[in-house]
Amino acid sequence: MKISFGKDAAAKSGAALIILGAKDSSAYHDIDKAGLVATAKAAGFSGGKGDKFSTYVVNGSKAVKVIAAGRGKAEIFDYELCAASVVKSLRGSGETSLTVHLAATDATPDDAARVALGARLAGYIFDTHKSAATKSKKSPLKTVKITCDNPSAAKKAYENYYGPVGDGTILARDLVNDPPNIVYPKAYAARIKKLADLGLKVEVLGEKRMESLGMHALLGVGLGSERESQMVIMRWDGGKKGAKPACLVGKGVTFDTGGISLKPGNNMWDMKGDMGGSAAVVGTMMALASRKAKANVIGVVGLVENMPDGKAQLPGDIVTSMSGQTIEVQNTDAEGRLVLADALHYSVTRFKPAAMINLATLTGAIISALGYEHAGLFSNDDELAAQISAASETSTEKTWRLPLSPAYNKLIDSPNADMKNIGGPAAGSITAGQFLQRFVGENTPWAHLDIAGMGMKNQRTDPREPTFGTGYGVRLLNRWIADNFEG
Ligand code: BES
Ligand code: MN
Ligand code: ZN
Repeated sequence: MKISFGKDAAAKSGAALIILGAKDSSAYHDIDKAGLVATAKAAGFSGGKGDKFSTYVVNGSKAVKVIAAGRGKAEIFDYELCAASVVKSLRGSGETSLTVHLAATDATPDDAARVALGARLAGYIFDTHKSAATKSKKSPLKTVKITCDNPSAAKKAYENYYGPVGDGTILARDLVNDPPNIVYPKAYAARIKKLADLGLKVEVLGEKRMESLGMHALLGVGLGSERESQMVIMRWDGGKKGAKPACLVGKGVTFDTGGISLKPGNNMWDMKGDMGGSAAVVGTMMALASRKAKANVIGVVGLVENMPDGKAQLPGDIVTSMSGQTIEVQNTDAEGRLVLADALHYSVTRFKPAAMINLATLTGAIISALGYEHAGLFSNDDELAAQISAASETSTEKTWRLPLSPAYNKLIDSPNADMKNIGGPAAGSITAGQFLQRFVGENTPWAHLDIAGMGMKNQRTDPREPTFGTGYGVRLLNRWIADNFEG
């Protein structure tokens, strides 16, 4: 999708979006605004937030589809969402261009850039594996022009921030949507290595190296797989030399069959998305590098395939993690926390980060608790939790904080080892968080985002999102880094 910013000019073809509200535009000259408003009113359009009306007007010899979107009296208007819902409504219509009129409204350059981001995210289609026979024959939207009062400032905001964040989100979506015969640990690591072109330093640890580091919690998960487990470390040094980095850690289970504690077959295919946490980290690192963020950030992802096999880990196995703590694996389907146990301990001890956030499609229980609207946020540090909540408000990637407390520790006590990897039916997402916390230690501000509901969805809940891989986390993490580590 080609995005451009320019001075106001009526669309000569394609579709036009006009946001009616607070301060009204004198723009869309050639369009008879009074006529448009009168027609819209007659058709029952109230101009309230989310309300839309579309019609055709003739400009010269061409008919232009005009979409009027209401913004009501909202103080804060979500330009991203508005643009996204219009782009989504144009899908399959054959329209190939859209002009969004923001000139002489109260939209800032940042708002204009967010219109572009919303359009881009809503225009995403995952059809790389469809052949001509099943690919949509209708042309998708190819160009979006945004007219506004300060197009050069809007362009800058887009190129310096929202565009790269959009690129990172789309990369994360592609990684989640791609099938497990394409995104398996080694192939995934190879894909991450390509990001070195952007200036990221990428390091890959294979099974031998992880073994010598004592990462038997992570390695145990991959025992049943023919495919070698990997850990990938990405480094972006855009900040002051010697400044402590932020560390982002992701669960990258490229497929989760459950292992010997095999999952039921129904819908098992969607466990190709069990690497959504890692995809958010990779997408974020890509965005940081392409926008040359002034921060030191390290991304660490544990890439493993969880399979049943003669060599697979058994329920009851006891493994020793890199931290030295032993774990009784009572259920091989609670594998994400095993992967993260070593990835978190490795990150804390090697990088001594100023703060660390991990993302993981960790528990089905978080979907029972929060559905597909919020990620679960767990943290050992109130300040970090508040920073993430704030970033989640501005980025619109929602989080909801849930507790961690030593009171839950007894649920993961094991008679045979330092702990077990399941906590029983109560508070499943919290006991998972409690487990992770043991591998972070006490001296690092840390947060865990359980994105089982947000990373992959089989139903859209937001017009910016496709079905399945949402790319959740890239916008949130970039915001958090921009607000707390840059400038
Ligand atoms: N990857 C799953 C969690 C998940 C479930 C993600 C649904 C997305 C959608 C995770 O590895 C898992 O299997 N968790 C188990 C833990 C249980 C065995 C303690 C679960 O949630 O059932
Ligand atoms: Mn599992
Ligand atoms: Zn899993």
